[in-house]
Amino acid sequence: MSLRAAVSAVTLAAAHLAIPFAHSQSIEYRSDAKLWIIQTGDFTYAMGVDERNWLQSLYWGPHIDRTQDIPAAHSLPQRAAFDLSTTTTPQEYAAWGAGLYTEPALKATFASGNRDLVLEYVDQRQTRDANSQTLEITMRDIKLPLVVHLFYRVYTGQSVLERWSTIDNQTKEDVVLEDAASATWSLPNLENRNYRAHWLTGRWAGEWQLQSASLDVGSQVIESRRGSTGSQANPWFALEGPDAGDDEHGPVYFGELGWSGSWRITMEQSSLHQVRITGGYNPFDFDYRLAPGESLTTPPFYGGFTGGGMGGASRILHRFQQDVILPGAPHPKLRPVLYNSWEATEFNVSESGQIALAEKAAQLGIERFVIDDGWFGQRKDDHAGLGDWYVNKQKFPNGLKPVIDRVHQLGMDFGIWVEPEMVNPDSDLYRKHPEWAMNFPGRPRTEARNQLLLNLARPDVTEYVYHWLDDLVSNNDINFLKWDYNRNWAEPGWDAVPAADQKKIYVAYVHNLYSIFDRLRAKHPKLEIESCSGGGSRVDLGIMRRTEEVWPSDNTDALDRLSLQDGFTHAYTPGVMMAWVTDAPNRKTPLKFRFLVAMEGSLGIGANLNNFTPEDMATSKDLVAFYKSIRPTVQQGLQYRLIPPSRPGFPSDRAATEYVSTDGTQAVVLAYLHSQHFGDPYPLVRLEGLDPKAIYRLHPLDPKQLSSQQEASGSYWMSHGLQLVLRDDYDSTAVVLERSR
Ligand code: GLA
Repeated sequence: MSLRAAVSAVTLAAAHLAIPFAHSQSIEYRSDAKLWIIQTGDFTYAMGVDERNWLQSLYWGPHIDRTQDIPAAHSLPQRAAFDLSTTTTPQEYAAWGAGLYTEPALKATFASGNRDLVLEYVDQRQTRDANSQTLEITMRDIKLPLVVHLFYRVYTGQSVLERWSTIDNQTKEDVVLEDAASATWSLPNLENRNYRAHWLTGRWAGEWQLQSASLDVGSQVIESRRGSTGSQANPWFALEGPDAGDDEHGPVYFGELGWSGSWRITMEQSSLHQVRITGGYNPFDFDYRLAPGESLTTPPFYGGFTGGGMGGASRILHRFQQDVILPGAPHPKLRPVLYNSWEATEFNVSESGQIALAEKAAQLGIERFVIDDGWFGQRKDDHAGLGDWYVNKQKFPNGLKPVIDRVHQLGMDFGIWVEPEMVNPDSDLYRKHPEWAMNFPGRPRTEARNQLLLNLARPDVTEYVYHWLDDLVSNNDINFLKWDYNRNWAEPGWDAVPAADQKKIYVAYVHNLYSIFDRLRAKHPKLEIESCSGGGSRVDLGIMRRTEEVWPSDNTDALDRLSLQDGFTHAYTPGVMMAWVTDAPNRKTPLKFRFLVAMEGSLGIGANLNNFTPEDMATSKDLVAFYKSIRPTVQQGLQYRLIPPSRPGFPSDRAATEYVSTDGTQAVVLAYLHSQHFGDPYPLVRLEGLDPKAIYRLHPLDPKQLSSQQEASGSYWMSHGLQLVLRDDYDSTAVVLERSR
């Protein structure tokens, strides 16, 4: 082996150590005990069939090696006349029947009026492909052929279990599903001490607020009734065990849904201290009619367990998204540094204006130039034009080609903003097809941002949207779409189908939306897409399968962003998190601070370059070049939250984040001080995730901001820490550690 090959073999081995899951994936069925044991990465998950033929959750937690130690399931007695065994049994997928008082996974009404549904085990089968293994357990109502298939999938090299279900009406009459969850997860009862629940809430320009509270007896429900994922809450949860330590230690159960429509997750502790998490379609306004022979499949609900604290939980999710979920997984492309003029010019786009900005952007090392809103139809502001996707001839008299050609000549690729699911009443499309807007006939149509939703549940609308997008991308050299979605639903009517099926709009809309992405991507394999929804209102693992990146928030104030980005990365990888340097919208902050905050994710610039001084241009050029040198580590490495920024209820004047490359050769520390008090020195910053025995050399962005020696072992940097010199308000710095031996 040559020296180079030997080095890269070591590097590869180190890469696998990056998340050192000690165990490989497997699904074992012990037919003697009717028991399944799922091993995946760091945890073991087990369930079994009891004497009544019910499927019970048996174990979810740290890895158990000797699987024969896990005993078979046994039926549980009634606790009292008031707590039937239906409720006390930790059912894997409890249907509402036989006296269930906790959150059901499934609730149905049969044509006869019967609403009792009790599922018993029928059989199981397993399949595998190159990267995953899937268990399918079939259940059936005790009397009627309403059949439920429960799926469990594990992926090679991942510490995540994917669960979903398919409900299949094999009766001869209609069945209406009032509630159809993807899965219920049962957690161990830990000496009757409460778990600490974490979830993300938000609003426009204030997304990704990390909420944390004790999960007391009762329920904590997070949901969207908005037709899309929404920012009111994100479909992610984490429950820390009562013995949790810091961000890097202690048991954490976590999960997230892959669905871009209305959803609900209920975290409940029963009065008998059983903790369950049930999530999937939102049962509100749901009533899904299954004709005989029809079935409904629920969204995937991904879950995991780690002993490595909240930090470990988020790194497992980041890895899973990079390796399994994102387009291009397991090798998703790095995000290019982009320029977007929205905050600089808003709707006032023109050929000469955009070319002038592109020329400036290219000088900074920008790799992708994006024209935002305003280029189409009669779009002068947000009152008109959505739906009319032809180039506005007043603004671009020669079409888009001259701008695209110039952008390419300058060495950048080209992207453009679209909002395909919306229509302004002041548009040719609406005048021609008012029936395409989502509405209840004869009722008012509530506008938001002067726009209505197109009802994508209609196949004709879906076809129309797909075809104009396909034409736009086929007829212009477009590498990237910023796909926006600037409001939530109102009046979700769909009168083209019988009244009993109209609520299917919640499911049909999202499937048709996904089909547009899927067809477009299949036809244009080089096309990349960003999911934007007036900021971060549509970020979930369903949309992330189809989009390379997401826009977390319209709030680009650097200090607010520190908190938003902290919340975001609890659930999603920094590799998809677009972060722009803009013109300090909420308060004046130094350009360097804005850059270093944006470097926590995928860097872009949205400032008005026409106002940049030569000094700003020079600083920006240097910082873009610096970012490129740390980009793979930040976007695809392992992220550690060393010092958290302000969180709801926990103010902080500082923040520091570390990233370690997957091959272990580079680490990056980004550190911030937003307000100085009493001249206190910046505390020592102890690093994480280094090889204790390896030697790392420090390369500070600014040597004056570091007072540590230049070289030391991983153990020293992790135990003693870095001494940074941050003194001023909105001070910031970066230090790169290169492994030297
Ligand atoms: C939304 C997006 C912004 C911008 C505008 C354009 O608000 O989040 O980034 O694209 O729409 O109208």
